[in-house]
Amino acid sequence: MSSAAAHGASFVAIVVAAGSGTRYGRPKHDLILRDKPLWRWSADTFLAAGVSEVVVVGDVPGGVPGGPRRRDSVRLGLEAVATDHEWVLIHDAARPLVLVSLVHTVMDGTRQPGIHGVIPVTAITDTIKQTNGDHVLATVDRRDFVAVQTPQAFRTDILRSAHLVDPDDDATDDASLVERAGGRVVVVEGDASNLKITFPGDLVIAEAILAERER
Ligand code: CTP
Ligand code: MG
Repeated sequence: MSSAAAHGASFVAIVVAAGSGTRYGRPKHDLILRDKPLWRWSADTFLAAGVSEVVVVGDVPGGVPGGPRRRDSVRLGLEAVATDHEWVLIHDAARPLVLVSLVHTVMDGTRQPGIHGVIPVTAITDTIKQTNGDHVLATVDRRDFVAVQTPQAFRTDILRSAHLVDPDDDATDDASLVERAGGRVVVVEGDASNLKITFPGDLVIAEAILAERER
């Protein structure tokens, strides 16, 4: 039985695609990777993973309007969900290479008792230093840190209430809101090939990863 079936398809997915792409130099929602726009890659993957409903936030066909900050777009996505399920998956459209297997790993993580969120993480390979902009203040032990990806899974009721706690908290991911609201978030193994398209060169890397997957 697939993971989705094992969960009774108790997941809704929200794909946020309403950013301005400042670092890319233009909005990324309609960038084409191979034969389809970025957002459609992950929407298709969530459907293949067996979720009950996919809400896309952004200026795309069938999408709902986003907001000024990522967290606003997530909230607007939550408001557009037709039928709440126990868990909601939040995903960045800027990560088109998400695999069904990673979605299932995150879904499987939600079986742990007493938790409110599951996030996929990878080990950091660069050396990490704290600076004040110009000067190095300290070198931290990178083994104490992880890089965080999406999709992230949350109990829907917990995520909804976490969004109400501090409207000024400009969180870059949903887990931050849930953590600050006192929620228990656990990590599962992410996927190094689940690249986030941030800078123009990333699209070339994404093409190369797709080619490698076909070898
Ligand atoms: N996002 C969104 N609404 C916003 C901001 C971000 O839906 N107001 C989405 C983006 O579309 C993207 C994801 O959040 O899929 C991750 O954001 P990021 O990679 O930072 O994209 P942008 O915010 O568009 O890029 P930048 O930060 O460089 O402006
Ligand atoms: Mg951003």
